Amino acid sequence: MTDQKQAGLEQLFQLAEQAAQNSYAPYSKFRVGAALRLTNGEIVTGSNVENVSYGLTICAERAAVVRAVSQFGPGIRIEAVAVANLNGLPSPPCGACRQVLAEFIEADAPVVFASAQGKLTMAFSALLPLGFEMKLQ
Ligand code: THU
Repeated sequence: MTDQKQAGLEQLFQLAEQAAQNSYAPYSKFRVGAALRLTNGEIVTGSNVENVSYGLTICAERAAVVRAVSQFGPGIRIEAVAVANLNGLPSPPCGACRQVLAEFIEADAPVVFASAQGKLTMAFSALLPLGFEMKLQ
């Protein structure tokens, strides 16, 4: 990865950390933020929003995707993702968020997230090798 791209990911991660400040997580206390860089140059962030009916909780990554589409329309493409939390714990995107990201993300898009070994960057295709697709005839 070029130095410039690495710096870009670093900045994206910082924006994800900032977004985590807006997390609404009174139940788990796990405060997550996500930042998406779109191919149109825009950056969109999201935070997790929990609910007393726990299953209605929205993860930070999905909040960001929904926000990106709402702001910029259905043609958006995601070229990089960062996921951070304020708890100092690993937070790779959950399976549901990977499937939702798959709808809009470039296969080789880097995803940077907090891991047990510090910050880890992986290509999206490595995070979701066999995502669901529907190719009806
Ligand atoms: N969470 C996220 O925001 N992103 C993920 O990828 C996994 C989990 C949130 C949901 C919930 O508010 C808290 O973390 C604990 O599961």
